[in-house]
Amino acid sequence: MLRVLSARLYDAALAGAERRALRAWRRELLQDLEGTVLEIGAGTGANLAAYGPSVDRLLLVEPDPAMRGVLADRAAAARPARAVVLAATASRLPMHDGSVDAVVSTLVLCSVRSLDRALAEVRRVLRPGGRLHLIEHVAARPGSLLHGGQRLLAPAWSRVGGGCSLTRPTKELLAAAGFDVDDVRGDTLPVPVPFVRPVVRGTARP
Ligand SMILES: C[S@@+](CC[C@H](N)C(=O)[O-])C[C@H]1O[C@@H](n2cnc3c(N)ncnc32)[C@H](O)[C@@H]1O
Repeated sequence: MLRVLSARLYDAALAGAERRALRAWRRELLQDLEGTVLEIGAGTGANLAAYGPSVDRLLLVEPDPAMRGVLADRAAAARPARAVVLAATASRLPMHDGSVDAVVSTLVLCSVRSLDRALAEVRRVLRPGGRLHLIEHVAARPGSLLHGGQRLLAPAWSRVGGGCSLTRPTKELLAAAGFDVDDVRGDTLPVPVPFVRPVVRGTARP
């Protein structure tokens, strides 16, 4: 019961950001996807409404049982024919090599412990030419006041936020892992808490 409550609290905490920006960003990122789409860390299903009609199969990977419970209910209500909910992590994806047309990650890579392994898995399951579609909050510019604040708050934030890192330079880490990040741009999430305002969004190609 408590776990379900925490999943519902997640939705409540994000409601303002969804209204102000995230809902539109999700749609812009996902509405034209086609074929078989894998979403990692699908959470409570915030992206479900953003997928367009050209998605044939939606594979929703979510390791947290409470999030997964809410996700399964919503996926069943929204898209019974196309969505499959899977208990797994991004570091070990239960898909064949080259079997998905696109991978989606929104607000997830900040929490993934072994990012290298997860990105290698994303690369493995994507078909040639497939892309990683992402919206992620990231570290502020090194040396900025905001970056200093993020570093100070990071340990406590990670403890209460399920391992979420405030200081992950995700775009740079994607580039270091061999992804082309030319179509990943910086933006600002209009939320009251400044530490999660810096975001990157767009698509990266292995
Ligand atoms: C902040 S929530 C984001 C949920 C959703 N993607 C969204 O945009 O609202 C982060 C999600 O990533 C999941 N997660 C954490 N570590 C993960 C991993 N290694 N692999 C896949 N999902 C993970 C968490 O369980 C949680 O549901």
